[in-house]
Amino acid sequence: MARILITSAIPYINGIKHLGNLVGSQLPADLYARFQRDIGNEVMFLCATDEHGTPAELAAAKAEQPVADFCAEMHAVQAKIAKGFGLSFDHFGRSSSAQNHALTQHFAGKLADAGLIREVEDRQIYSNADQRFLPDRYVEGTCPNCGFEKARGDQCEECTKQLDPTDLINPRSAISGSTDLEVRATKHLFLCQSQMKDELDAWINSKSDWPVLTTSIAKKWLHDGDGLQDRGITRDLDWGIPVKKGDGDWPGMEGKVFYVWFDAPIEYIAAAGEWAEANGKAEADWQRWWRTDKGADDVKYVQFMGKDNVPFHTLSFPATILGTNSHNEKAGIPERWKLVDHLKSFNYLNYDGGQFSTSQGRGIFMDQALEILPADYWRWWLLSHAPESSDAEFTWENFQQSVNKDLADVLGNFVSRITKFCRSKFGEEVPSAGEYGPDEEALIAELTTRIRAYEAHMEAMEVRKSAQELRAIWVAGNEYLQATAPWSTFKTDPDKAAAQVRLGLNLIPLYAVLSAPFIPGAADKMLAAMGVQDRSWPKDVTAALSKMPAGHGFTVPDVLFAKITDEQREDWQARFAGTRD
Ligand code: 2FM
Ligand code: ZN
Repeated sequence: MARILITSAIPYINGIKHLGNLVGSQLPADLYARFQRDIGNEVMFLCATDEHGTPAELAAAKAEQPVADFCAEMHAVQAKIAKGFGLSFDHFGRSSSAQNHALTQHFAGKLADAGLIREVEDRQIYSNADQRFLPDRYVEGTCPNCGFEKARGDQCEECTKQLDPTDLINPRSAISGSTDLEVRATKHLFLCQSQMKDELDAWINSKSDWPVLTTSIAKKWLHDGDGLQDRGITRDLDWGIPVKKGDGDWPGMEGKVFYVWFDAPIEYIAAAGEWAEANGKAEADWQRWWRTDKGADDVKYVQFMGKDNVPFHTLSFPATILGTNSHNEKAGIPERWKLVDHLKSFNYLNYDGGQFSTSQGRGIFMDQALEILPADYWRWWLLSHAPESSDAEFTWENFQQSVNKDLADVLGNFVSRITKFCRSKFGEEVPSAGEYGPDEEALIAELTTRIRAYEAHMEAMEVRKSAQELRAIWVAGNEYLQATAPWSTFKTDPDKAAAQVRLGLNLIPLYAVLSAPFIPGAADKMLAAMGVQDRSWPKDVTAALSKMPAGHGFTVPDVLFAKITDEQREDWQARFAGTRD
């Protein structure tokens, strides 16, 4: 049994995510986690809310709540929606947890001991109108790299370049729009990433099987222009993790907190500690996932994220881990932390001719999606159209078409047709007469080939290809029914029809198990209606097709997937055309 550690980029606390965010991180991570569990591996799937930084502070101020209360409330909201979408996290943590405070301070202390942190008299943008220092993302202006006019001070959304706010041309405050900005001196800590450039480069070069999207972004920041720059890892804010060296003070850094992007990825680790605490486990139980000196050396660690998150995960966070590990090695300290083994990144999903936008409230947000349709409809569309090789686009027409064809016509109709036919001719029990012949053998052979291909795609995290193969598996069942036509056979050879029906019924639990990573709700319904508890993965397809032996009782399930009508589509299209308040 392999051990697979999976993390999804942790969503910011200050709002409900849109479907573009979901498909770029949490949803494909869930697909992979469910698949790995289903094939029998031990999985630790972690996510959390990203609770620090100015966005949290400002959103709390807008809600007129203390920031800690705001975060606690929004965490509960996000956790509930995640559950609604069937996201099967082993733990959904909080980056403001005590565990993350301690670990972030621990890593900072290690990096300081390693000589990888330097104190810098920094120049930071102060807004006279807002009477505060403006953190990076609250300075907007023109990107010096690509000319995009709405670039944020931390990163340009258009060309993904990591920026410092002072790099921006024509800077303005994103809070007030004021251009009355000045640069003031303040002292900050910088992580000396530039010293680790060669080590990071060698590490990225060793990842030949990573998506090109991932390695090309990393390579760009390693080699473009002046190469990898040192990054400020502290901020002048109230809310956040106080700057400390381990559990000791950091003279001169009083009143400052760590930069949100320094502590957010460390929360991946802290979330395992939170999981242990929440489940009455010991320290060793979570450390065996993260500490290679404590049993994590055989763990495969996979991260999922949108492309804008790639630089932080291929450079900054690995710098934290590599720097800590090599310091410990030199100092003869056994402590070693796990680095990511595979990083799956996604392009953007656009919405109906434009972009999804949290700030403008454009598109469909997770809570709204669940108000109009169950999670499986969204999961199927989003995953089968995942923006893997390029950006993808959500349109209502395409959504309607996919749902109606794939889910209602292909899968739903198959289940309904075979169960209803059996009920009408043989009753609600699997018929025992007849033997399987060449048609059944051909179907089993085709399914075996397709299931092995499906597993390979799932293992490789090829999300779209997996969806296509799964659909082809459903289609094979339909084609078998169409070709063998038990309703006609029944008239001349009822025993043969019984055998066809027996196989057809047995396809339902097989399809349920195979489809569960994509559409877990429908899979549960299918298994419940078939009275099958055995969820074992079909390693041997013939054996998997005998979960419902002759005489086994079942019920005809309710409609699995209702078709989306033109009227509904038009109604939703109009409802989500504007912006959300
Ligand atoms: O882009 C985002 O939503 C960030 N909150 C992702 C952080 S991922 C990691 F570093 F934890
Ligand atoms: Zn740019």
